Amino acid sequence: MPIYKATTFAYPKIDADIEYDYSRSGNPTRKALEDQLASLENGTAAFAFSSGMAAIHAALAIFKQGDHIIVGKQIYGGTYRLLYQFFKQWGLEISAVDTRNLTAIESAIKANTKAIYFEPITNPLLQVSSIKKIADLVHQYNLLTIVDNTFLSPYLLKPLDYGADIVIHSATKYLSGHSDVSAGAIIVKDQELAQKVYFIQNAIGSILSPEDCNELMRGIKTLSVRLDRQIENTLAIFNFLKNLPEVDHIYYPGHPEQEGYEELHQEAKAAGSVLSFELNSAVDPVAFVNKLKIFTLAVSLGAVESLVELPSKMSHAELNSEEQLKAGIKPGLIRISVGIEDQNDLIADLKEALNQAKK
Ligand SMILES: Cc1ncc(COP(=O)(O)O)c(C=O)c1O
Repeated sequence: MPIYKATTFAYPKIDADIEYDYSRSGNPTRKALEDQLASLENGTAAFAFSSGMAAIHAALAIFKQGDHIIVGKQIYGGTYRLLYQFFKQWGLEISAVDTRNLTAIESAIKANTKAIYFEPITNPLLQVSSIKKIADLVHQYNLLTIVDNTFLSPYLLKPLDYGADIVIHSATKYLSGHSDVSAGAIIVKDQELAQKVYFIQNAIGSILSPEDCNELMRGIKTLSVRLDRQIENTLAIFNFLKNLPEVDHIYYPGHPEQEGYEELHQEAKAAGSVLSFELNSAVDPVAFVNKLKIFTLAVSLGAVESLVELPSKMSHAELNSEEQLKAGIKPGLIRISVGIEDQNDLIADLKEALNQAKK
């Protein structure tokens, strides 16, 4: 598919039946990507945005003042900020629940509740919620099920197959895969929902550029190969970490001994390549992350490069220490996103940094 950089398209004549007239409203390169995303997620329509947050904004903009939505307690911080510091002031009511608890979800439903929004694997504690169980429950109340599938990608999980109505991606992560494209996506099955999302995409205009659509399509070509390798590396790191006396706990539902494994594998092929672990008091967590050489100290996830972050000082630094502990984020919690490097090098890097960071 060529990169159609044109912002406007010539009309052959007045009243001609043309597919494209203006690039914000429709662009052939974006359409090729959107068709690909729809097909990957077993949807019927997809919409590409300039970032994951732009996609989340568009999905939530289909609601109106006075509507209530239930959201997962551990959703991505940027989504939390968008909900509580933006949509709330426009009159959206929000309740946060632990979406692993169906009773809590049901108790939160009110007469004006319109949807539930959650991440099937949360960040950074990798808690697993079942899409099917949640969708089956909330559909009895005519609510929409909105799933942020960023942490798994359509290669590992297709939420629409389990009853989700709207799937969202920060395509900045696994889908692009190389930390060089900011992008977002919404995928739906239902035509009425597709029309609502298209209206918002065109009205607000936070579209993905043709160049970035092309880069994203190139990234998607290697999605499965990258992920297979990333998962293999993550499992090797899990096996290394689980025997270490300095590691108190590992959060990774990708191994049968781990919490969430059974639930996750009812719907997903694997758990992806984000893993968190708690270092105990024998190691200085700040020194540990500073000493790593192959793991880059950076937020984000899902790309070919391995990254490490310290949630208490980086992604969750907005919370005070009491709020962090309440959210399960201890000072020694480390989150890694495992890339495609040689697993022996990655393990050697972890080993070396641990030795150097011992108190
Ligand atoms: C689960 C999840 N959803 C959405 C986003 C937002 O995506 P973006 O950074 O592309 O706007 C992120 C970003 O980290 C994320 O982790």
